[in-house]
Amino acid sequence: MTRTIVVTGAASGMGRATVEELTAAGHRVIGVDLRDVEVIADLSTPAGRSAMADSVARLAPDGIDGVVAAAGVTVPLPPSKIIAVNYFGAVATFELLRPLLLRSATPCAVAVISTAALMDYDDALVEACLSGDEAAAQAMADTHGATEATGYASSKQALARWLRRAAVSKEWGGSGLLLNGVGPGSVLTPMTEDFLSTPEGRAMLAKATPIALPGRAYGEASELAEIIAFLATLRGRYLLGQIIFVDGGTELFFRPDLI
Ligand SMILES: NC(=O)c1ccc[n+]([C@@H]2O[C@H](COP(=O)([O-])OP(=O)(O)OC[C@H]3O[C@@H](n4cnc5c(N)ncnc54)[C@H](O)[C@@H]3O)[C@@H](O)[C@H]2O)c1
Repeated sequence: MTRTIVVTGAASGMGRATVEELTAAGHRVIGVDLRDVEVIADLSTPAGRSAMADSVARLAPDGIDGVVAAAGVTVPLPPSKIIAVNYFGAVATFELLRPLLLRSATPCAVAVISTAALMDYDDALVEACLSGDEAAAQAMADTHGATEATGYASSKQALARWLRRAAVSKEWGGSGLLLNGVGPGSVLTPMTEDFLSTPEGRAMLAKATPIALPGRAYGEASELAEIIAFLATLRGRYLLGQIIFVDGGTELFFRPDLI
């Protein structure tokens, strides 16, 4: 069955690889990004987010079957910008597109999180994000003593917690909307290619994100796209609130006894 699926961050990296995976399987994709896609919108601002939702509603007036929130940024942008895109942009994407998803018989939403969610996050900043007060969270992000890396980890930890809470709410799981996520480990994309191109960067990464698989230092965008597309096209209706780590085992090194 052909589905209509919105993918944010569709111009690059894992978002673009997901578009390729979904279109190859015959689905219609509405890409959202800052450039080179159907819907040009800046998800770091409330105005950009609502313009995105208006454009998607115009392009798919009968509704959509899936949403993938892959748009994201990292260092060296300031923590306030990182949480604006990675947390508030992603949550707004899900919430603003939820009415269109409700018109599908088999709706699926997928958040792109990160193994960074398990690292050095700032609990106060995570709670500030989850409280929904974006101005306060952004102010805290830049003044709380959070490093840029802490800002990224916090944005992803907050998104993971939001997903687990929302999934079992009346609005999502309770309305038949499947909300799940992927947790990529290190993946070679334009976001990471500078870092991964130096021996020092690769060595630092090997230490920060250990991988159990032989001969692997990072994942390929296509390896993530396969799992993201799977989660965006579920026919079975029983998978809810799960984050699948696609990381060569990194998550297991961080928390081996979590089941
Ligand atoms: N690459 C990795 O190692 C890695 C690991 C874990 C998680 N992630 C996450 O995966 C997702 C995809 O990252 P990627 O590695 O493919 O990066 P990428 O830089 O290749 O792609 C990210 C896309 O998001 C878009 N984007 C950024 N800010 C935006 C905004 N304000 N509005 C709209 N679009 C915006 C960019 O233009 C870009 O096309 C991100 O959420 C990232 O945090 C990446």
